[in-house]
Amino acid sequence: MKRKWWQNKVFYQIWPKSFSDSNGDGIGDLRGVIEKLDYLKNLGVDVVWLSPIYPSPLADQGYDISDYYNIDERFGTLADFDELLKELHRREMYLLMDLVVNHCSDEHEWFKKAVDDPDGPYGKYFYIVDRPKDGSLPTNWRSSFGGPVWEPLPGHPDKLYLHLYHKKQVDLNWKNPLVREEIIRMVNWWLDRGLDGFRLDAIACIAKPDEFKKYPADQTDGLCSFRRPISESKDLGNYLKELRDRTFRPHDAFTVGELHLADDGGVAKLIGDDGYFCSMFDFEATWFGFSPLGWYDNQPCAVDDYRDCCFKTQKQTGTMGFMSNIIENHDQPRGVSRFIPASELSDISKKALAMFYFFLRGLPFIYQGQEIGMENVKVKDISEIDDILARSQFQTALAAGIPKEKALEVCETYSRDNTRTPMQWNDGDNAGFTDGTPWLPVNPNYQTINVQQQEQDQNSVLNFYREMTRLRKQSKYEDTFVYGTLHPYLKEEKHFAAYLRVNDENGQRILIAVNMQCESRRISVPGKKWRELLTNFPGDTLGRYDWKNVEEGDNLLTLGPWQAMAVELWP
Ligand code: GLC
Ligand code: CA
Repeated sequence: MKRKWWQNKVFYQIWPKSFSDSNGDGIGDLRGVIEKLDYLKNLGVDVVWLSPIYPSPLADQGYDISDYYNIDERFGTLADFDELLKELHRREMYLLMDLVVNHCSDEHEWFKKAVDDPDGPYGKYFYIVDRPKDGSLPTNWRSSFGGPVWEPLPGHPDKLYLHLYHKKQVDLNWKNPLVREEIIRMVNWWLDRGLDGFRLDAIACIAKPDEFKKYPADQTDGLCSFRRPISESKDLGNYLKELRDRTFRPHDAFTVGELHLADDGGVAKLIGDDGYFCSMFDFEATWFGFSPLGWYDNQPCAVDDYRDCCFKTQKQTGTMGFMSNIIENHDQPRGVSRFIPASELSDISKKALAMFYFFLRGLPFIYQGQEIGMENVKVKDISEIDDILARSQFQTALAAGIPKEKALEVCETYSRDNTRTPMQWNDGDNAGFTDGTPWLPVNPNYQTINVQQQEQDQNSVLNFYREMTRLRKQSKYEDTFVYGTLHPYLKEEKHFAAYLRVNDENGQRILIAVNMQCESRRISVPGKKWRELLTNFPGDTLGRYDWKNVEEGDNLLTLGPWQAMAVELWP
């Protein structure tokens, strides 16, 4: 693969609304982010991705943009944005924005003009169709947040518009070359301003099938997920190529796609040297156990399943490209709550999970709060949930006859609010996130899980993340971690995850071994001599574990309960 500036970077996702509030209105903002840049630099972060900060009615928390050329006043101004960019670049850091171009807000001026004159030029910016004479809908596709993808066009009861997501997120018609020109112009406007790249939201959805057909229903509502019809579209590659060649490539910008890798691969086409994107997220574990019936029917994802999912992607990808590795994001529950059994959740096990994913081949993405081990939040009533997806899944569960308490429990488990509660900076009021009333309540566990406390504790999750970024970047090992091949090790073992990173140029080998259980385990190490580079022991803040020192000199290694280790090996 060609060498690129972003391949050895550590990425960090910010959910701006919940990161840091500088003016006490309860909403995080860009000045709040600027204040925390030294914190991020010190964590070892190179590239910051901001979830949407454009003007928006926030029907889907900013993923419904009403003006692509500005900053929502709740988050700040373009001047704040420029300052943020300058402050990042001054620290040799980079900035990515969210590019949300499958849809725009129904409050965008394009849609307003389309509503005024559906037969005029802006009507063709969207998918506006005549309602069938018999009053039915053109297709039975279900939108992401429940109900059909069709909504009557305001003021035109005989017309319908398409929205794959919320009805306030209107799908843009990429078949129209004028729409593509608008988007290309906008992307270049931000890149010319100095932005370093984008995360491409819902990007696999931008191409629609030529024919709008009905499909067999997959739930009792008679509808079917839009994923199937969308996957049958043909134009995606052409749209992506044009976008890449006329925007990202000439700017040498970084892009990461939000799309799922199909089982038949296509890795090279997506993220190879000539791929549509620089990288894409590994969502294999995200989708693991997910049921087409709804969250209530999901199967849990054990830590071994998470491991297997990661290995599956690693195998598909090989050295063809760089996947972006995650344990969570703003659409997921907290990774530590999802993958680690509740009775085994501790700083040690959080660090162990972190160690497993952080040294996989690919780009490590840290989601805000992950670096201090933030956990899912408890809810007592559905009214406490802000997330529109969780609220719609609650209704889906009730409609399927699931008792209310159970339906609530399901939403508590999967709600996107879990990762959207305010960042926990200290144990003061509102976890130090705001001087006002936070837009979403802080997780009550901020008293024990917060940045300030972890700064002082040498063995904290936070300090472990710092050590991990330092190890990844040590000049002696960087090439192995970035470009080395990955070989799963002892992959049939239960509650265990290990792999070798091998530098094929100089023969350097590093073993990452993670014991994901409460009993110790002895493994043989594939080398005659070895040296520990990093471990999550000591640091047993709960004092629960009885652990032994590793024995040097032979090729047997004892890992304590949930102990993780990075070990350099010699043949
Ligand atoms: C992506 C975003 C998600 C949003 C959806 C619609 O999946 O990550 O948060 O709801 O797109 O824009
Ligand atoms: Ca604010």
